[in-house]
Amino acid sequence: MNRAGYLRRCFLLTLVIAMLFACRTQNIKQQTELGPHGLPVWAYHVIDPVQPEVIELKGLVHLPGSTKEYDAAVTESFKDPPDWYPDEHPAAPPVVAGGKDGPAMACGSCHMMSGVGHPENADLSGLPLGYFVRQMAYFKSDTRKEPARMNQIAKTLSDEEIRQAAEYFAVLKPRKTVEVIETETIPRTYISSLGRVRMLHPQGGTELLGHRIVQMPVDALRLLNRDPHSTFLAYVPLGSLSKGEKLVKTGDAGKTLPCVLCHGEGLRGVGEVPRIAGLQPVYIVRQLLSIQSGHSAGEGVALMKPVVEHLSLDDIIAISAYVGSLSPTQ
Ligand code: HEC
Ligand code: HEC
Repeated sequence: MNRAGYLRRCFLLTLVIAMLFACRTQNIKQQTELGPHGLPVWAYHVIDPVQPEVIELKGLVHLPGSTKEYDAAVTESFKDPPDWYPDEHPAAPPVVAGGKDGPAMACGSCHMMSGVGHPENADLSGLPLGYFVRQMAYFKSDTRKEPARMNQIAKTLSDEEIRQAAEYFAVLKPRKTVEVIETETIPRTYISSLGRVRMLHPQGGTELLGHRIVQMPVDALRLLNRDPHSTFLAYVPLGSLSKGEKLVKTGDAGKTLPCVLCHGEGLRGVGEVPRIAGLQPVYIVRQLLSIQSGHSAGEGVALMKPVVEHLSLDDIIAISAYVGSLSPTQ
């Protein structure tokens, strides 16, 4: 090989190494960036500052098995959210369903009329009445901090509206919506400004999962249309499920108590201690981190404080992966 050829090869090789390094640093940066309250950004579905594509929902929308038809603008509404399958739930009070007698931010818009919610918010289906009302009081008094949404929303509601919402969601049947997958490498994703949803990056590619749980819809369009039947994938690190199962069932002396002790065999809840089986894993991570860091500190949570105090982020990831993989119903 002549000298020019050799130099060109060296140059190309350096370029490839530099690109690989840049990808890796990008990966690590994403994983260590901090979001609200200084907690890991990936758990909080923070909108990416650079949006790689602009998604516009347009036209009339239909969903399989629904007789309803909505304009795309309605499927995005907070005031008047779509109700795709009215036969699947009891009549909803205005606080949930919205419309002219409802609040500006109807519960059914983010949590959906089925209550199952999305990874970036919360699953309210079947929550015990007392637990629900207590959380709303915590949001109202800022003892549970979610300033961008729930703290503001709770402050606008009367006790009567809260009771009606709690009664509505308490009788809804939980549904399994998440498939938990152990893996090392995941598709490249970003958090869209539309609905704070994690979506596939339009340019494709893969990245290392690292110490994260990454959740995305199986079909982003169905989710954006607020289809309550839409489902989710949760990518979790290899070995999470067996590690999580052990911590959940038997605890670990000096580290944590077995979750089954209070949340019941199968983690489907006991009295006012809520079900946690089958919740969105990334939501469980958020809750455990919020309780650990004191950003959720209502008196009911006092029982949870010693449970999470000594858990590492990796323990929390493993526990959340396992709990999220369980069936919420018998
Ligand atoms: C704009 C979206 C949005 C709307 C509208 C909304 N919520 Fe929420 N809600 C959230 C998010 C996000 C969370 C998760 C907070 C967290 O991570 O701590 C949440 C959490 C909750 C929780 C806690 C659930 C649990 O398991 O602890 C309750 C209860 C709740 N919401 C009730 C309501 C009610 C009642 C309404 C209607 C009046 C409502 N929400 C409207 C976004 C919303
Ligand atoms: C000593 C009893 C106790 C143990 C053990 C316990 N919990 Fe809890 N947990 C509670 C109580 C009580 C609440 C409700 C707090 C409230 O009313 O505000 C709760 C709430 C939660 C919530 C919030 C649910 C929601 O819908 O947002 C999560 C998540 C949770 N626990 C996870 C766990 C996990 C995971 C474990 C095991 C590592 C565990 N808990 C062990 C008592 C316990």
